[in-house]
Amino acid sequence: MYICLEGIDGSGKSTQIKLLEQWLYNCGHEVLRVFEPTDSKVGRLIREMLRNPHATDENFQRTLGLLFAADRTILMDKIIDAEVEGKVVISDRCFYSSIAYQNGAEWLSQINKFARKPDLVLLLDLEPETALMRCEGKDSFEDRSFLEKIRKKYLKLAKEEEFFVVNANNGINKVHEDIKRIVARRLGMCV
Ligand SMILES: Nc1ncnc2c1ncn2[C@@H]1O[C@H](COP(=O)(O)OP(=O)(O)OP(=O)(O)O)[C@@H](O)[C@H]1O
Ligand SMILES: [Mg+2]
Repeated sequence: MYICLEGIDGSGKSTQIKLLEQWLYNCGHEVLRVFEPTDSKVGRLIREMLRNPHATDENFQRTLGLLFAADRTILMDKIIDAEVEGKVVISDRCFYSSIAYQNGAEWLSQINKFARKPDLVLLLDLEPETALMRCEGKDSFEDRSFLEKIRKKYLKLAKEEEFFVVNANNGINKVHEDIKRIVARRLGMCV
């Protein structure tokens, strides 16, 4: 089972993934937690590039799209191995982030064809204003209008690809409860 949490920066993905991992572990599941960009050499290069003030420029995003696809291809082997071992894989972002951030052009889908689709995608949805407030102090390259565009793309993708949309404006515990309920149903567990 490959579960992915998606959402704009500051939507609470890292926070919720830690809680989800702990809960699944307490329920007796073996869990592999992964994130994109990864800690491979390509992933580290992406992180460095994301700190560039021009990171939201179109050309820059195109380059990032190519690098993300390479980084993701490396990650896939790890995910597939974990699944074969019966682990639940929870991922902080997946190729849907590329579709949302780097514009969903056809070439992006092509170069991501080696990326396996998650079995379950949870979209943490919230107002960009709230997300930005939560990120204050962190070096973030996005502004409100950029995040607004990304949020819209995510919501469009959610309809097309059957994501579960979680209201991430709520407090941490309420969001965790909502996520637990969706994951439990998919894994055939009781909450
Ligand atoms: N539901 C919530 N209510 C209030 N604050 C929250 C909530 N969820 C997370 N936070 C806080 O908001 C900040 C951003 O959360 P977090 O790092 O989990 O987001 P993220 O989606 O992983 O962001 P990024 O994409 O930048 O990695 C953190 O300081 C976290 O403690
Ligand atoms: Mg995070």
